[in-house]
Amino acid sequence: MKEKIYLSSDHAGYDLKDKIKKYLEDQKYEVIDLGTNNNYDSVSYSEYGKKLAKNVLNDKGSYGIGVCGTGLGISYSVNRFKGIRGARVTSVEDAKLAREHNDANVLLFGGRQLNIDQVEKMIDQFFKSKYEGGRHQKRIDELDE
Ligand code: RB5
Repeated sequence: MKEKIYLSSDHAGYDLKDKIKKYLEDQKYEVIDLGTNNNYDSVSYSEYGKKLAKNVLNDKGSYGIGVCGTGLGISYSVNRFKGIRGARVTSVEDAKLAREHNDANVLLFGGRQLNIDQVEKMIDQFFKSKYEGGRHQKRIDELDE
């Protein structure tokens, strides 16, 4: 059974989110799109980050992918929530280490900076990597103290 993934973006991230959605559905992930639903009505990355964080936290074992123009604003938003480990990734190596060392449960992308080919590679790497636990767990526990 493949992972359940919540998707969320502001208007600047909409186009990339839509492509990510199609890719994940093709790959048979379970996908839940929290909006936004177009690239022309300006909405807040803060609001869509909160929505994403709350859904992931309320659904144990699920993951989130958020997109805004840079991936920065939406990463600030999700990381205000205890239990969320949101990784703004810009490379395949980031994606690998975000899982292996940081046990990330949310990925954030810059929709104005990355194309779908790059993002597909990062998503593939993230989900095929495994959290290593061990020495990393204490540090992760400290985040939520
Ligand atoms: C919206 O124009 C843009 O500021 C936003 O998507 C994001 O890049 C902020 O971090």
